[in-house]
Amino acid sequence: MSAHAQHSWSAAVMAALVAASGAAAAQGLEFTQIQRGRYISKAADCISCHTVKGGKPYAGGYPVETPFGTIYSANITPDLETGIGKWSKDDFYRAMHEGIRRDGKHIYPACPYPAFTKMTREDVDALKDYLDTLEPVRAQRPPNALIWPLGWRSLLAGWNALFFHKGEYMPVDGKSEVWNRGAYLVQGAGHCAACHTPRNALGAAQDDKALQGGDAGESWYAPSLTGHPRDGLGGWSIQDIVDYLKTGANDDTASAGPMTEVVMNSTQHLSDADLTAIATYLKDIPAQQIDESQPRDVPGTVMDRGKALYVDQCMGCHMADGKGQKNTFPPLAGSAPIQAAKPQTLIQVVLGGDRMANPPLRPTGLGMPAFDWKLSDQDVADVLTYIRNAWGNQAAAVDPGQVGDVRKALKEYGPRYQRLITQSSH
Ligand code: HEC
Ligand code: HEC
Ligand code: HEC
Repeated sequence: MSAHAQHSWSAAVMAALVAASGAAAAQGLEFTQIQRGRYISKAADCISCHTVKGGKPYAGGYPVETPFGTIYSANITPDLETGIGKWSKDDFYRAMHEGIRRDGKHIYPACPYPAFTKMTREDVDALKDYLDTLEPVRAQRPPNALIWPLGWRSLLAGWNALFFHKGEYMPVDGKSEVWNRGAYLVQGAGHCAACHTPRNALGAAQDDKALQGGDAGESWYAPSLTGHPRDGLGGWSIQDIVDYLKTGANDDTASAGPMTEVVMNSTQHLSDADLTAIATYLKDIPAQQIDESQPRDVPGTVMDRGKALYVDQCMGCHMADGKGQKNTFPPLAGSAPIQAAKPQTLIQVVLGGDRMANPPLRPTGLGMPAFDWKLSDQDVADVLTYIRNAWGNQAAAVDPGQVGDVRKALKEYGPRYQRLITQSSH
């Protein structure tokens, strides 16, 4: 058995898949290989970016917004002309491993090949076998709209030389098999860093700040996944993390926005063993340094104004003590995302409202109502400053300018921000 095979596939998952596929498994190895590829496609959430809402799965054309313009995802169905039907396994591995297309041109890192490069050849081959079973769809994507001169793909050679570290995941000595499996999934297929790691001015993940919190496009903030007790997962148990990734909620919080998509399209489909591996790895990341010396002088008048708004508008669901109601309205007191370094996600949820994840394991129809029509930028800033500093919470005040920026982004991208949320069919 190669070193890769040991961590890239757990026997338990394999057994579960074989059992789940029932009689079909009797047809032999080939079917299992496709099941395996399908599982990897879930772990990597290829469908979220490669499908437009209402469109055919994996036919591409979804606009990925970057600070440098819009990049439309490619058609990765096996269509011979417009998809990747002519690509060999080597071609496909080169795309995932090096970010280079079949025609030799560079792929924009809007497709997270800087993470996919960590996937093993076996996993990538299985993924291709699965993609080859999809219905071929003839679909051309719209041309990208990038700021000059980034339309030239050849410039990406320079970007790669500076920021891209090619290479499959190497198990870390002295760490358990479970930890290594978790690291493989988080750093590789799961591409968690694409949202949870801060980026530099050229859009590259800052590896020295891995998973310390980053921007998740279109004005969402993906909070720190390190061990910090407030701005991080320090207060979460392994089971809390597993519950969250499996169902989109736990006793501390409920997922919102892009993370709800990740849960629905990806992590809810992972085995408990793999989710435990992810949680084990995350729980081992040391807390980031936060400058606690800055006085958080939130004026009493702001807290009073925020509290009055809270009592009027929010208390009915989130309760006076901020503890919410079990399994229905998430708590705000002591909650990590409420105290995140940047408030963009909270502003999004208050302005635009949000639906909870609705997986078969934890069906709820509950949502947070939109307040954009009711509350001014100042109101939203004050009520959020209040919930970020009431009940023992502690976080930077929210500025009305930040609320204004998100309000603008919501108007601009809101109607386009319509990704597919799958149940389980693909
Ligand atoms: C965060 C969004 C995102 C995710 C997740 C994602 N992709 Fe992409 N992908 C893109 C975008 C955007 C492009 C177009 C990039 C370009 O024009 O260079 C692309 C391009 C590609 C291409 C190049 C195809 C071509 O003809 O140019 C392949 C192959 C590909 N993706 C496969 C995958 C697979 C397989 C997965 C899952 C393992 C995946 N992608 C996950 C956004 C994504
Ligand atoms: C497309 C962007 C995106 C990707 C990819 C992503 N996340 Fe998230 N994640 C978010 C956002 C945004 C939030 C904040 C949600 C909220 O506050 O309700 C979040 C929240 C979380 C939380 C809760 C943290 C907290 O303090 O509330 C956990 C745990 C988490 N993500 C784990 C992961 C893992 C593990 C992966 C990779 C398998 C991942 N995420 C991939 C965007 C993303
Ligand atoms: C009708 C009930 C209801 C009211 C009223 C309400 N909320 Fe919510 N709130 C929810 C639900 C349900 C969620 C979970 C939504 C989700 O996960 O998508 C939520 C989520 C949130 C979140 C995101 C939590 C996270 O972990 O990311 C914040 C912040 C929030 N509410 C603040 C407020 C504020 C501030 C007000 C008053 C201006 C308010 N809510 C009023 C039901 C409500």
